[in-house]
Amino acid sequence: MPTIIATDRDGQEHALAAKAGLSLMENLRDNDLDVAAICGGCCSCATCHVYVDADWLGALDPQAMDERELVQDSAHFRDGVSRLSCQIRVTDRLDGLRVTLAPED
Ligand code: FES
Repeated sequence: MPTIIATDRDGQEHALAAKAGLSLMENLRDNDLDVAAICGGCCSCATCHVYVDADWLGALDPQAMDERELVQDSAHFRDGVSRLSCQIRVTDRLDGLRVTLAPED
């Protein structure tokens, strides 16, 4: 069971006992972090926007074009570290992953 360290919008860190096989968005939501995820993970709302710790970027699967196009429209987009958490599949190799919830648009 991978542990994910998620920082909420108040700067509070949460160590989540994540479930592999679910998306990062589902893990954040299931642990009561404030992720609206209004499209349910269909890559069409960007309300699951997170910043990935730079040390972990290489461990993630590459960003697909549709995710890239959507997230870069966010007012809080940060080149290189912005990801949509619904597009990140949690696996055991992401044990220790650090992310920060982006501000709401
Ligand atoms: S939940 Fe809508 S884009 Fe991720």
